[in-house]
Amino acid sequence: MSGEETFRTETPLVGGRVELRAYGLDDAEALIEIIRAGEGFLPPNFPKELDAELLAWWLTEGVHQPRRYGLAAHFAVIDRESGAFCGTIGLFRVDWSQLTCEVGYGMRPGLRGRGYATDALRLVAEWALRECGLHRVELRAATSNIASIRVAEKAGFLREGRARGAERGPGGTNHDQFVFSMLEADLDRRDADRREVAPPELVGIGVGPGDPELVTAKAVRILREADVVLVPVMALDEEGRAESVVQAYTGKAERVVFALNDRGGVTEKRAAAWDGAAERVVRAFEEGARRVVFATIGDPNVYSTFTYLAQTVRERMPAVAVRTVPGITAMQDLAARSGTVLVEGSESLELVPLAKGTDGLDAALETGNTVVAYKFGSVAPAVVEALKDAGRLEDAVYGARLGLEGEEIRPAHELTGPVPYLSTLIIPGRRTSRGGKL
Ligand SMILES: C[S@@+](CC[C@H](N)C(=O)[O-])C[C@H]1O[C@@H](n2cnc3c(N)ncnc32)[C@H](O)[C@@H]1O
Repeated sequence: MSGEETFRTETPLVGGRVELRAYGLDDAEALIEIIRAGEGFLPPNFPKELDAELLAWWLTEGVHQPRRYGLAAHFAVIDRESGAFCGTIGLFRVDWSQLTCEVGYGMRPGLRGRGYATDALRLVAEWALRECGLHRVELRAATSNIASIRVAEKAGFLREGRARGAERGPGGTNHDQFVFSMLEADLDRRDADRREVAPPELVGIGVGPGDPELVTAKAVRILREADVVLVPVMALDEEGRAESVVQAYTGKAERVVFALNDRGGVTEKRAAAWDGAAERVVRAFEEGARRVVFATIGDPNVYSTFTYLAQTVRERMPAVAVRTVPGITAMQDLAARSGTVLVEGSESLELVPLAKGTDGLDAALETGNTVVAYKFGSVAPAVVEALKDAGRLEDAVYGARLGLEGEEIRPAHELTGPVPYLSTLIIPGRRTSRGGKL
């Protein structure tokens, strides 16, 4: 049987929570309700008006014709348990000479966020690639359509890039779309992954200081493949710093509250936040997630909340494998952006966190080696004094909110007044001649 013929065969597709079946008169009631309520998710070629005759013709004939000619295949998405009509999914722009098609879907507004679209998308893509002989299923989603992007990623589609101005918006302006695709090889890889009974994984991913371009290719791949992506935030209604970077690569980011700026050791608020986040991770694994990712600014092994989350998860679920993907740290970004050599020759580097005060800074400065200060937002004037006293203020460079809105990079001697929490100082080693430290 050729691919086009397979397209014509009657196949209800069943998997996950849904059944995908051909449209018929049984769907009239749901469609009438949808049209009456003005639920605007149906594709453009679906009936828009309440005309009984037209609706009956469309359900028995109209929707099936393109499928007979191998031009499109539309399915009703039905909840297997309740039999309710959840939405629609279809293959269109089918090109049998290239063996490619596009997929589109829409779920009823009241039934979104329950995984119907993801299950339906997995099924229809698998059918197209494994049963119908198609080679590539393409999916396009407006870059602002976070829900649809999540569905595509969860179903295992690969994001290829951005098609600029590809979609005409209702306001008469063109918007960008993300282009995703799935090939049969992706399904094979997914099946192989499933067969491997690797333990569930918690991965701490460093997403760099703030500039989305400073994220490793490995981090991007794992973010996109993850079942759940968590990002720490101060409050649920505030975008997190790691989140702003993650958003450039996946719409999957889910906020977990952390007392990120709390001081004074293991405060009640901090401990509660670690437990709450660990609880979310544990729940994700219990619900079947194989890989949960926690995105953190800079590197996950440098003063990161990930350390405490990982410890808590390990205690609660010893079978979970914990690993990290390195990220570029704020001091590396500041070195690059300010043209400062961090260390050369025999110099060593001391990274001093100053959240509890400037103790330890004087001794570090005395060595003549490179000193980097982190977390000095609350003691900035005292730090400047210490640098002055040690005669090392002139060479020092300051960077705040690197890669983020409100970024500042300047010589440390220009510092006056308070500085933000995201501030880094580099005090380079004392150097006199080329190679003098070799
Ligand atoms: C909790 S630590 C996180 C360190 C991070 N994991 C890293 O690898 O760079 C927070 C401190 O890192 C520094 N920092 C992190 N991101 C920064 C940024 N975008 N700009 C300036 N400093 C930053 C600041 O010194 C801040 O007080």
